[in-house]
This record gives sequence, C-alpha cells and structure tokens, in this order.
Amino acid sequence: MVAKKTKDITNLILNAKKKARKETSFAPEPELTTPIKWPVRCIVGPGLEGAIACETKIGYVNGSKGWLVYRGYDIFDLCAYSTFEEVSYLLIHGNLPNSSQLKSFKKKLFQYSHLPNTKRLLMGFPIEDMNPMGALRLGTNLMRQELTYRDMDNYRPDIKSVISADEDSIPMETKPKGEERAIYEFTHKKYSRPMTIDEQRLHPATGLDTCYHLIAGVASLAASIARIRAGHLPIEPNPDLSHAANFIYMLTGTLPTPVEERIMDVALILHADHGINASTFASMVVASTLSDIYLSIGSGIAALNGPLHGGANEQVLHMLEEIGNVKNVKSWYTKARKSKRKIMGFGHRVYKAYDPRARVLGPLADYLAKDNKKGRALFQIAQALENEVVSTLGAQKGIFPNVDFYSGIVYSCMGIPVEFFTPIFAVSRVSGWTARILEYLENNRIFRPRAMYIGDFDRKYVPEKKRK
Ligand code: SDX
Repeated sequence: MVAKKTKDITNLILNAKKKARKETSFAPEPELTTPIKWPVRCIVGPGLEGAIACETKIGYVNGSKGWLVYRGYDIFDLCAYSTFEEVSYLLIHGNLPNSSQLKSFKKKLFQYSHLPNTKRLLMGFPIEDMNPMGALRLGTNLMRQELTYRDMDNYRPDIKSVISADEDSIPMETKPKGEERAIYEFTHKKYSRPMTIDEQRLHPATGLDTCYHLIAGVASLAASIARIRAGHLPIEPNPDLSHAANFIYMLTGTLPTPVEERIMDVALILHADHGINASTFASMVVASTLSDIYLSIGSGIAALNGPLHGGANEQVLHMLEEIGNVKNVKSWYTKARKSKRKIMGFGHRVYKAYDPRARVLGPLADYLAKDNKKGRALFQIAQALENEVVSTLGAQKGIFPNVDFYSGIVYSCMGIPVEFFTPIFAVSRVSGWTARILEYLENNRIFRPRAMYIGDFDRKYVPEKKRK
C-alpha cells in the first residue's frame, strides 16, 4: 500500500510534466543561454531587472515558458526520481553522485546535523519570542563556532573544548563588592591549550565542509527552533532517516509516513535553487567581499524572510484564511484589485508563465487535502482564487501562481506550523545559496552596481544658526 502511495506521488509529478510539455515549448531562451563576452549589454530596469550578473552552470529559469533546470536536469525529472541529498550534491558538484559519493555525502550531512553546543547556546536566547527566521539566522552565526575556525588546521574540534554555556557552567554573578555592574564569569571548560593567534582570528570560512555543515545545520536549526518554541527540547537526528525524514522527525518529534517523507523531499528539491533571486543574490554579495560563508548564508536567510520573497508562503495561508470560504473569493478578489493589493503567491520577476514548481505543488496540495478537512477548504479557495487571478491577469500581465501559492497548503496538511513555512524554504535553499557562492568565488568580483545620481550640485554650506 505504501509503495502504491509513494508511486502515486511520482505519477502526479510525471502528469504535471506532461501537462507542462503540452502547454509550453521546451526551447531555451538564446539571449540567456549563451556564453558571455564581457562587458555584456543588457537592458536593466529598477531592482536590477534584466541585469546579467555572472555566468553559471548551476541552474536556469526559463521565464517565458515556465521551466526550471538544475545542472541540465529538468526539475520534473529530479522530483520524480531523485532526492534532496542527490540534488544538493548535484548543485554543488555538477554531477549526480555515484553510490560511494552519495554514501559519504549522506554520512557527512548526518555528522554535521549534530549541533550540540549551538543548540545549547540557542536555548539561552528568547527563541519563543523571536521571528523564526531571525532565530535561524542567529543559529547560523552560532553554529560557525562549532566547526570553522578550529578545523581549518585540519583537525576535528574537540567538541568539549568549545566554550559552551552548558549545564555545569551557568553564568556566575560575582558577589557585589560595590562595582557599578555585575562581572559575569563563565566557568567553562578551559582549552586544552591556549589558542594560537591564528585560531583566535576567524578564518574566512568557505570550502566544501562548511557548505555541507550549513546544508545539514540549517535543517537541524529550523527543527530545533520549532521544538524550543513549542516548549520542548531539540531532538537529535536519527541515523536511519533521510534528510527530509529527519527534518520532519526533528521538527515534530514523530517519524513521518513514507508519503510525508516523499512529499517533503519533493518540496525540498523544488525550493533548492532558482537563479540569482533576491536571497541568493544577497548571500553572493556578502560572499563576494570574501566575508564568511556563515554570515553570507545569514544574509540569504534575512532576504528570504521578506513577504515579497520566501515569506510569501506564510502570507498566502493568512490570505486564504482571510477569504475564509470559496463563496467569498470573487468579492474578495474584486476588492483586492480595486485597492491594488498584491495577491500573495502570484506573479514573478522572471516567470511570465506558470511556475513549474507550482505545477507540482498544486497537485501535491490537492492529494494531501483529500484526507484533511482544513486543507480541503483551503485548497478549494486557492483553486477559485487561481481561476480569478489567471483569468484577469494571466494573459494580460503574465501573472500566474508561483512556488509560494500552494506550498503552504502542503505544509499545513502535514501539520507544520505556519511560521515554519519560510524556514523550510531556507532549509532547502541553503543548498542553492552555498552552490552559487562556491561557483561565484571561483571568479570572484565584488558586487558593486552604480546608482544614477539625480540630486543637486554646488549647494553652499550654511552654519546651523543661519539655517531656517
Ligand atoms: C519567490 O526571484 C525568484 O526566483 C524568487 C523565487 C525563488 O525561488 O527564489 O521564485 C521565490 O520569491 C516567489 C515570489 C513570492 N512573492 C509573492 O508571491 C508576493 C506577490 N508577488 C509580487 O509581489 C510580485 O509578483 C513579485 C515581487 C514576486 C515580482 O514583482 P515584480 O517583478 O517587481 O513586478 P512588479 O511588482 O513590478 O509588478 C508588475 C505589475 C504591476 O502592475 P502595474 O503597476 O504595471 O499595473 O504586475 C502587478 C503589479 O501591480 N503585479 C501584481 C502581482 N505581482 C505583480 N498584481 C497583483 N498581485 C500580484 N501578486
């Protein structure tokens, strides 16, 4: 029965592919798929629309036809036949891993998904009051200490030696002796030897191990933050589970069904990479200054949080709940159009056709909603809203559902809290961010666009007293 159900998911994906191929041709856009002779001429709009920032072999988004390729593989095939571990390896290394490469990659991801000291440090912060994406960004800074600056000398950090505010080292406030302020003293485990000057300096962290550490760590962090917010202790990863299954297990505390695991894996594949989008660009800009990859990924998380970007998936659910009933869709939409309100989950800077990721997430949402009353209601509203938007803005303005429109219904049917929809996006996109940083650093050039100055000239300085 289980095999049949997971087979259903594969068939659903292949049917979506068939439909896409029927509706769109499959020819690359020549102006976006030919080698570049710098300097390149392009017509650039506000927000760098149309600007070509670099060459890449990692992924291609065909906006006019609505299809997506990772390292030459069509996204529908990767969803149907691959896994998030394989796709992360593919994005970074350029080829699908053979069995021994996949085995050692999975082993590394599992090893790096243990973040004992980071979790302890994280629990020292008011996580339950923080925006989960803010907490995730904090966690990527904290996890940096677990690996980077000590292992650059090629030896494993002695996990006990890293300073950690663990159980037996609570901050001791010294007895007040009239000082103006308390002097905190952490009784932490002393280093086995004093750190050399070099070790004290934070090496600029790049390299494969830090990328693997981040791909594994962001999933552990997102799950741990969810557990802490729910008042539970974080859960350590289970060696027998896949990355997608472990993420659900660490997030919810329960083992996922094979169908839930398969659907999460497909969702992680779909969100992994998408050209130089805002969050990928943000992480590349920071990395281009040779800053630290953990800080670069933190910038990606910050950009993804915005409701115009990755934060849209959470906004979509609030919007569908605001509409409340399929009967209200028409009137709600008319009002929204009158007030020029952006309909969350629709439109895209690049896609002026149906987002291929929505072509998969829509049927997945429909599949899960069959056995989920709330999901069913949400899906009916979503379908009615899609018909309204596409019939009025589709052909006219190229506005169709994007990746964020149905993903929230999928996660909601899986019992995932709405505030973790965007962190899941980051759990996946960290593979695209790290792959693109590594690729860009091979021919690094610090990003530095210009701005058209339309201000004044020759203004004379007036002392403060004489100003109006
Ligand atoms: C993601 O770049 C990526 O690849 C991102 C992403 C990825 O994988 O990394 O795909 C993930 O971010 C998907 C997008 C999620 N965001 C949303 O769903 C928020 C709603 N969408 C819009 O805010 C908007 O469509 C953007 C931000 C996604 C794209 O905006 P653009 O390209 O800057 O387009 P625009 O705002 O200049 O709009 C052009 C026209 C305007 O009408 P006019 O002023 O010309 O009359 O289209 C209209 C807009 O009003 N329009 C919309 C609309 N999106 C654009 N009208 C109603 N609802 C919308 N959603």
